[in-house]
Amino acid sequence: MDACPAPPDPALRTLLDAIWQRLARATHDRAAGWRHPALASVDETGAPRVRTLVLRGADPAAPALVLHTDARSAKAAEIAHQARVALVFWDPAIGTQLRIEGEAAIIADPATFATLPPPARRLYAVDPAPGTPIEAPGAFGETDPARCFRVLRVVPRRLEWLDISLPHRRARFDLAGGRACWLVP
Ligand SMILES: Cc1cc2nc3c(=O)[nH]c(=O)nc-3n(C[C@H](O)[C@H](O)[C@H](O)COP(=O)(O)O)c2cc1C
Repeated sequence: MDACPAPPDPALRTLLDAIWQRLARATHDRAAGWRHPALASVDETGAPRVRTLVLRGADPAAPALVLHTDARSAKAAEIAHQARVALVFWDPAIGTQLRIEGEAAIIADPATFATLPPPARRLYAVDPAPGTPIEAPGAFGETDPARCFRVLRVVPRRLEWLDISLPHRRARFDLAGGRACWLVP
């Protein structure tokens, strides 16, 4: 992949601001297209794994994205082994895809857990661990969800935006190097 040669021009800076605003909106707007990204990680054999999550936070100043998960999930073990992850967002209402590459960390965060409404807390109460084979759909018990809840924090290194309205437009932002460029779509 060719590196972007220069810092963002004004049009690219405006686009990057709009991307962060759309991410921030998706954290509180249940209908927002970018609310449910797919998160890809790799397992210990190098095989790709991907699943849907809810975007919970987007901070352009850090920069960081926040998601929630279970400490016992496969993705938590995969990220502990290999922090590099990718996310993809698709908003059909505006015809835009956002791809993000970065590094993830799994973080115990009792203060955030305390802010969750009871139905959200119960998601982390399943026992045994998520993904354990069982004999029937409801054949599992409960444990203390506070012990299982984790924040999944992603530090984005690269964003790639694609607008499929005609004519297609595509741009990349190398956040670490402070560079950005338009790409052939
Ligand atoms: C719409 C939707 C939202 C989801 N949100 C989350 C989430 O925020 N956190 C999470 O851990 N799993 C979420 N899931 C479940 C994951 O897609 C996945 O099935 C689960 O986390 C197990 O993944 P793993 O075995 O790769 O760790 C969501 C699934 C759907 C369909």
